[in-house]
Amino acid sequence: MTRREAVQRITALLRDIRHHDHLYYGKDRPEISDAEYDRLFRELVELETAHPDLIVSDSPTQRVGASPMGELAKVPHEKPMLSLDSMTDRDDVFAFATRMKRELEKDHIIYTAEPKFDGLSVELVYDRGTFVRGATRGDGKIGEDVTVNLRTIRALPLQLHHTRTPPSHLVVRGEVYMRLDEFQALNRRMTERGEEAFANPRNAAAGSLRQLDSRITAARPLTVACYDIMALAGAVPSTHWDELEALTAWGLPVPEHRRRCHSIEDVLAFHEATDAMRESLPFEIDGIVVKVDRRDWQDQLGSKSRSPRWAIAYKFAPRKEITIIQDIAVSVGRTGTLTPLALLKPVEVGGVTISRATLHNADEVARKDVRVGDTVKVERAGDVIPAIAERVPVPGEQRQEPFAMPDQCPVCGSAVAREGAYFYCTGQTVCVAQLRGAIEHFASKNALDIDGMGKKTVAQLVDLGLVRDLADLYRLTKDQLLNLDGFADRAATLLLESIERSKSVTLDRLLMGLGIRQVGQHIARVLAKKFGTLSRIMAATREDFLQVREIGPEISVSLASFFSEERNRQVMARLIQRGLMIASPPVDAGAGSETFAGKTFVFTGGLAAYSRDQAKQLVEQHGGQVSSSVSKKTSYVVAGTEPGSKLNQARNLKVTILTEAEFTDLVKTE
Ligand code: IVH
Repeated sequence: MTRREAVQRITALLRDIRHHDHLYYGKDRPEISDAEYDRLFRELVELETAHPDLIVSDSPTQRVGASPMGELAKVPHEKPMLSLDSMTDRDDVFAFATRMKRELEKDHIIYTAEPKFDGLSVELVYDRGTFVRGATRGDGKIGEDVTVNLRTIRALPLQLHHTRTPPSHLVVRGEVYMRLDEFQALNRRMTERGEEAFANPRNAAAGSLRQLDSRITAARPLTVACYDIMALAGAVPSTHWDELEALTAWGLPVPEHRRRCHSIEDVLAFHEATDAMRESLPFEIDGIVVKVDRRDWQDQLGSKSRSPRWAIAYKFAPRKEITIIQDIAVSVGRTGTLTPLALLKPVEVGGVTISRATLHNADEVARKDVRVGDTVKVERAGDVIPAIAERVPVPGEQRQEPFAMPDQCPVCGSAVAREGAYFYCTGQTVCVAQLRGAIEHFASKNALDIDGMGKKTVAQLVDLGLVRDLADLYRLTKDQLLNLDGFADRAATLLLESIERSKSVTLDRLLMGLGIRQVGQHIARVLAKKFGTLSRIMAATREDFLQVREIGPEISVSLASFFSEERNRQVMARLIQRGLMIASPPVDAGAGSETFAGKTFVFTGGLAAYSRDQAKQLVEQHGGQVSSSVSKKTSYVVAGTEPGSKLNQARNLKVTILTEAEFTDLVKTE
C-alpha cells in the first residue's frame, strides 16, 4: 500500500469508526456487528502501527493509554458553572412560573423539561471540531482537568460531526454518569478483587472520572449526556430545544427523553410521567430540570450568584415512606451474627412493597431509638436493602419498652455474646443456622479441602439431619450419600474418597477450618507455629494466647471461649476419634524467612502469577502481613492490573508502590 493509499484508507476508517461509535454509544442503535466493528478497528490499528506519523490525536485508537498523572491539574472555566435551585413542592414550581411571567412580563412561556441526571457535571471544549479539553465542575469557577479520562468515554465524540465547517470554538456542559447495570457489574468486580464497592452510581462515576490513571477510567463504563451550550463562536440557537438539536447534529449525546412544555401544568405532567418511568430507566435520575426555552429570555432573566433564574431542578420525592414496626425479629447469619430486623406493616416505596428492613445492629436500634409499635420512615435507595431512615414521633403515643438483644440464640438457644456493636450466637456448629456455613467453610479449599462438598450437598446433609456437627462428616456412609439428590454411585465414591483424604490435615488448616471468630488463615498459622499441637491449644488460656505477638485481646477471648465450650471440645474429641490425623505444620512453611517481619503489604488489582491467596501466603511465609486497607503504616502497595482506589491512597500517603514484577523480585531476593 502506498502512503497515499494509507492516508485515504485511514481517513475512511476514521470516518466509519466515528460513525459507528456514535450509533453504538451515543444512540444505542448499532448498524454493524461487534465483529465487523472490531475488524475496522484492527485495520486502523495496523495501518497506524505501520505509519505512526499518520496517527491523529483524536483517532479512536488514542482513547486509552495515557500514563498516570501526579495529580489532576486545575483549570479555570470559561464561564462559571452554575448550580440549580431545587424544589420538591409543586407549589414552589407554580411560584417559579408566576415569577417568570412577572419578570418577563409575558403570559405564555414555553419550557423545556428533561431528566436531571444523577452524575457529575463536566465542561467539554471543542476547538475547530476537535475535543481539546474537559474539566469537572470543581467549585464552579475552577475545575479539574480530566481531558484524558473523558477521551475514554466512547459516547463522547472526539471529533464533532458537521455538515460544512465546525464551530471554531464550542464549550458544552454535560453530565457524566454510569448505567445501573454497569455499576452493579463494576461493584461485583471490585468486591471480587477485595476492594470496597461504590455506594451508588454517582460515586462510581465520580471516582472513575477523577482517576489519575486514564487506563482505569477506560476500564470503567462511563457515559455522558450534554444539555447546555456554555459558549459558541457563532450564532447560538435561539431556544434550549434547538440547542439540544444542534448538539445532536454535532454528534453529542443529549437527553433523549424530554418535552417542550407549553404551560406549567404540562411541566407537572412531565414530572409525574418521568417519575413513573424512573424505576425502569437504565440509569439514575433524581428529578427533572425545567428551563425557560427561549435563550433571549434566559439572558434577560440572568443569574444569581450560584444559579440561573431561568431554570430549576424539580426533584422527585425521596423514596421514603411512613409505616409501622409490627415486630423486631432477630436473624442469625452464617457466622453467627445476630441481626435485628424490623417487620413492617407492608408499604410501597418507589413501586416496591417493603415488609422488612434491616436494623443492622443493636447500637443502631438504640441510636435511632426504634421500638415495636413505632411509626418510622422507610427508605430505599437504588437496589440497596431497605433501611429505617428515622422514627416519626407521634404526639401522645404510648411506646413499648426499648428493644434488647436476646440472651439466647433464637435458633439454637446457645448463649449470646457481645463483641463491640455486634451480638453473636456462641453455639457455633450446634446452631443449625451456622452449621451449613460452618461445614462449607470447613470443607473449603484453604481448610480441609473436601472436593465435592458444595453448597447444595451441605444443605441436604444438614436438612436431612445426617450432619449435626463437623465430626459427623467422618461417619457418612455411601448409602446415605446415594440418598441425596444428584448423587450416583461415582459421585458418592469420589466424595467419600475426598473426605477420607481430608483426614490428614495440618494443624493450621484445621484451626482455620473450625471457623473460630477472628481466626483466619494467618492467625491459624501463627497459632500452629507457636503451639505445635491441638492439645496445647485446647489447654491454653486467654493469657497464654495474649502472649503471642499478633494476637490481641479480641482474638484471645474468641479462642479461649471457643475451646472452653464443652460442645466444641466434644466435637474435637470426636474428630480425632474418627481418624483425623493432625500434622504439625512444616516448621515455618516454605522455609520462610523473617525478612518481611513488621512489613505490611496491600494488594490492589489483579496479579498475573499468583492468586490473592498465594500472594498473601508468600508475604506471610516471610514474616510479613497483608492488610486490606492502605494507611501510613503500610510498607508496600502492590499494584496489579486495573488497580483500585488504593493506588491513589498509596500515592497520597507516599507509600512505596510495587509492580507485580518488583514484588516477585523482592520475594526472590528475600
Ligand atoms: S442544567 C445553568 N440540566 O444538576 C445550567 N443540569 O443541581 C445548569 N444536572 O450541577 C445545569 N442533569 O450537574 C442541567 N439536564 C440537566 C441536568 C443537570 C443533571 C445537574 C448538573 C448541576 C446539577 C444542579
